[in-house]
Amino acid sequence: MANVVVVGAQWGDEGKGKIVDWLSEQADVVVRFQGGHNAGHTLVIGGNVYKLSLLPSGVVRTGKLSVIGNGVVLDPHALAAEVARLQEQGVAISRENLRVAENATLILSIHRELDALRESGSAGTKIGTTKRGIGPAYEDKVGRRAIRLMDLADLSSLGDKIERLLTHHNALRRGFDLDEFKPEAIYEELASIAPKVLPYMDAVWRLLDEERRAGRRILFEGAQGALLDVDHGTYPFVTSSNTVAGQAATGSGMGPGSVGYVLGIAKAYTTRVGEGPFPTELFDETGELIGHKGKEFGVVTGRKRRCGWFDATLVRQTVRTSGINGIALTKLDILDGFETIRIGVGYKLDGQTIDYFPASQLAQGRVEPIYEEFEGWSGSTAGARSWADLPAQAIKYVRRIEELIGAPVAVLSTSPERDDTILMKNPFEA
Ligand code: IMO
Ligand code: MG
Repeated sequence: MANVVVVGAQWGDEGKGKIVDWLSEQADVVVRFQGGHNAGHTLVIGGNVYKLSLLPSGVVRTGKLSVIGNGVVLDPHALAAEVARLQEQGVAISRENLRVAENATLILSIHRELDALRESGSAGTKIGTTKRGIGPAYEDKVGRRAIRLMDLADLSSLGDKIERLLTHHNALRRGFDLDEFKPEAIYEELASIAPKVLPYMDAVWRLLDEERRAGRRILFEGAQGALLDVDHGTYPFVTSSNTVAGQAATGSGMGPGSVGYVLGIAKAYTTRVGEGPFPTELFDETGELIGHKGKEFGVVTGRKRRCGWFDATLVRQTVRTSGINGIALTKLDILDGFETIRIGVGYKLDGQTIDYFPASQLAQGRVEPIYEEFEGWSGSTAGARSWADLPAQAIKYVRRIEELIGAPVAVLSTSPERDDTILMKNPFEA
């Protein structure tokens, strides 16, 4: 199995950036296949910090091809801005090392505005989105009225497409009592940004097929996490794309057999940003302490993340819905020094014990976690680079997690620095 897909196994922010960066050294091609600039992936390389939202993490390394697949919703302004920001940091970006799928859906300012409007509370349920226009853009994609990257290459036919889009959006706007959008304004917006993004456009499915045939190693970089998946997550408190590993194929134009090893990333505890159920959430000093030690603030929105104990029931479920072959367990060091640590091992629902997370929103909000309690460890795991460096209790904790979730820990990350990593199994050689 030559290729690897990395997916979040919780609600996002599991530390995918570091792991993807660490794996990208062995890869030739790094592909984003869903989501958009709602992701926030932090890479620390030789003391330099790079924050990526839309670009694949391979872009900061020389000699890697970075690909944004058709499954991504692409804000052309965000792309241009991120490219410019990284170029200022000394990263070389050109068509040589970046390609974007011609059939990727565009996020326009009308999507951002609609997202913010819905989140303002006056118009329906608040999801706690990143307000980047992700949901509205995906809606237009499946509604078959989206503008796609390739449409910018043919400005003469853009007028009809804008018309179709606005027939829908202006009806909505009238309902919200807002001014209607003018087609000329959208045309101007698109015509002016087109030259910044068109140079990267390519037929990604064909490019990736060539890369695969040439025996090049492909790393698929997931954003968000399996519990934010629009089908398998905590609906409606989810993102608008499929975040499970199967999407790597659909969102890049490759067959399912090309995906290879599925590496799930999970934090040694649990966090979530935005609204929605979170059975093991902590509302006390322990939760505060985890958030403080773990610096649990969003990369994209700066929001404080909700914190709680590791929920093995949830991760066991995502191991199955994503077909996870192994886990990269991150931020174990944040639990250093805790007297006792808990793991959620199941739930009580209406007096019954269940070993899965129910699908209904009502039940998800009502389950009570069943905990197993662990004695903590006094030694430090921070920066450990081998099992021998870990306190015995910490090893016991990791082993118990493996047992409960039904997947081995292939990689253990013990600090944000890339070399502070313990490798049990190299996903590229699995
Ligand atoms: P990375 O890749 C954590 C959450 C938002 C909100 C919900 C829907 O850094 O792990 P959206 O803007 O996508 O429509 O918001 O999804 N969310 C994330 N949470 N990490 C992310 O990405 C997220 N991307 C979206 O907070 O609850
Ligand atoms: Mg994030």
